[in-house]
Amino acid sequence: MSVNAVAELLRSAREHRQAVGAFNVIQIEHAEAYAVAARRTGCPMVMQVSQNAAAYHGGLEPIIRACRAVAQVSEVPLAVHLDHAESRELVSQAIGLGVDSVMFDGSALPYEQNVAETAEVVAEAHAAGVMVEAELGEIGGKDGVHAPGVRTDPREAVSFVEATGVDALAVAVGSSHAMTERTAALDLELIGRLRDRLEVPLVLHGSSGVPDETLRAAVEAGMTKINISTHLNHAMTRRIRQYLQENLAVVDPRKYIGAGRDAVTEEVVRLLEVIRARRVQ
Ligand code: G3H
Ligand code: ZN
Repeated sequence: MSVNAVAELLRSAREHRQAVGAFNVIQIEHAEAYAVAARRTGCPMVMQVSQNAAAYHGGLEPIIRACRAVAQVSEVPLAVHLDHAESRELVSQAIGLGVDSVMFDGSALPYEQNVAETAEVVAEAHAAGVMVEAELGEIGGKDGVHAPGVRTDPREAVSFVEATGVDALAVAVGSSHAMTERTAALDLELIGRLRDRLEVPLVLHGSSGVPDETLRAAVEAGMTKINISTHLNHAMTRRIRQYLQENLAVVDPRKYIGAGRDAVTEEVVRLLEVIRARRVQ
């Protein structure tokens, strides 16, 4: 998927108040599950690899190359995205590896430094034809360092987008990362105001903790890219646990990881319906 295709996908989804699902890849089986879900539904989506997932694999290269290989043989477009990169070096490396988009997460930086560094990332990424998402206002929950209850200020968001030239903006509207219960309440009124004031697609992080009906309402209110990770890992792990309990003699990982992969596909297919994901024409 080319950068223009990702940007265009998000733009058209925003315009129609539809969404694009963005799902995290930890194992190659996640990427395979998303490709099957894309084929079944006709919905393009974003496969994202976080800085933490890259560290787990000992570096970005093996997992990004795996995702790109899965994307290359998919008939439905799949974008490969670097998620939550706090390291500029990692951003450069991801661009070199041919990702379609990157998220530079400067949310822990002082505002002026976040602006300056994000603008530099945009210059570097755009020169290579890569789309940039950035974060303003801490989403909460990640590594326990962000305070919950933070909200993005619309005026600050407008100046941030103007000053940096980012293509998509992650906003803090009530969700929190890594929730295992789907009990988060979102500020739908704030989402509406952000959508009215900003022309770039808005990204909802920490969507695992958001109930189905609120996810749907968030898309209707103006969120475009819906990032989900923990909830899918929950589905995968639950199925694997069940498989292993029912098959005590199994030793072949393809059996139980394959069962987990199927569970991820099924849940992604369901979620794409919930969020009214944009389909290929
Ligand atoms: O960037 C990734 C997401 O924000 C996923 O968060 O694990 O809470 O769904 P989650
Ligand atoms: Zn996130």
